[in-house]
Amino acid sequence: MSERDEAVAKRAEAVMTPNYRPAPLAFVRGEGAWLYDQGDARYLDFAAGIAVNALGHNHPALTRAIAEQARDLLHVSNLFLNEPAVALAERLCALSFADRVFFGNSGTEANEAAMKLARRYMRLVRGEDRWGFVAMEHSFHGRTWASISATGQPKYHEGFAPLVPGFTHVPFDDLDAVEAAVDDTTCAVLVEPIQGEGGVITPSPEYLPGLRDLCDRRGVLLIYDEVQTGVGRTGRWFAHQHADGAKPDIMTLAKGLGGGVPIGAMLCTDEVAQGFAPGAHASTFGGNPLACRAGLTVLDVIEREGLCERAARVGKYLGGQLQSLVDRHWGLVEVRGRGLMRGLAVNPEGFDRATLVAAARARGLLMTMAGPDALRLTPPLIIETGHVDEAIQILDDALKESAL
Ligand SMILES: Cc1ncc(COP(=O)(O)O)c(C=O)c1O
Repeated sequence: MSERDEAVAKRAEAVMTPNYRPAPLAFVRGEGAWLYDQGDARYLDFAAGIAVNALGHNHPALTRAIAEQARDLLHVSNLFLNEPAVALAERLCALSFADRVFFGNSGTEANEAAMKLARRYMRLVRGEDRWGFVAMEHSFHGRTWASISATGQPKYHEGFAPLVPGFTHVPFDDLDAVEAAVDDTTCAVLVEPIQGEGGVITPSPEYLPGLRDLCDRRGVLLIYDEVQTGVGRTGRWFAHQHADGAKPDIMTLAKGLGGGVPIGAMLCTDEVAQGFAPGAHASTFGGNPLACRAGLTVLDVIEREGLCERAARVGKYLGGQLQSLVDRHWGLVEVRGRGLMRGLAVNPEGFDRATLVAAARARGLLMTMAGPDALRLTPPLIIETGHVDEAIQILDDALKESAL
């Protein structure tokens, strides 16, 4: 941390609302997998803005597309059409189960759209008074009111009661619990294919196909929150594609889709889309040409540079190298996740994760924490095995220094 970073930290403390606890680092530029602070010290970015910078920093195709689009047209509203939005929707449909797309600006907004669509479809199209959601313990769906109500972690509810009614939470990866919780008031089951903020928890291979079957039998919709897992992160375009035949009715995306430009998307089938009539839902900024052009470029680059395959290959290598750390350090317990969405669970007995994150940062590696016991590594999809080796070396040194 340079003196200039410290000065920015002081100014932030004086004027920003106190709901964040940022590290005292004000980055000024990035290049590939690296970030640079005001003193030009560089950091290997295995946080990627919490799984956002899919193409890393300053990817030439993305910066060019954004600059060109900014020159041509930034915003027109949904009172008119814009071609980049239509092209991105076409592209997302071609890559997925979906027939139709709604654009917003964030993950939580995409989830709001998903839940509103599910409820409205059940009421107005199917004529059934089903308005409840079954969601999962330890899940995370965002910070707006319905999304925190869907989120199965009480710490995110603190001080915000009363929550939005209609949410039942059951243990993750437990089909019997969902079976028991679904009743004739349920409209949808909402689940992350791999829980991210909950601690990078991958369910058993039978879970998503089992949920699909259950939802079909019980006449309810299946919603996947792929805000964190989507757009190549786990080695497929969407994480549920690892589970054959487990397609949802609705899926939400954000984070990696814009490569750093804010965008959220709610994808759905033709059938379910009937739940939205003109005026039923909207977003002023949603689907603006700038964000959609960025999204299109991210998808183009992922395809052209084979980044899903790379996430699978380099992610497997990362998993193996993390396992070798687990084998060497008593403070580490297990490796979680898939592709380039990885959790490193720590020994809850006397192990302070925050100390390790700070020690790694001091050595030039950025990562995040997730759930009660995990470090989380979500590097850009463009990394190579050499970046993994550097990260593992830093982690190893930091662990040794902390005598863990
Ligand atoms: C699975 C999941 N859903 C929703 C969100 C909320 O996204 P946003 O912060 O863009 O609203 C997140 C963010 O971490 C997430 O991981």
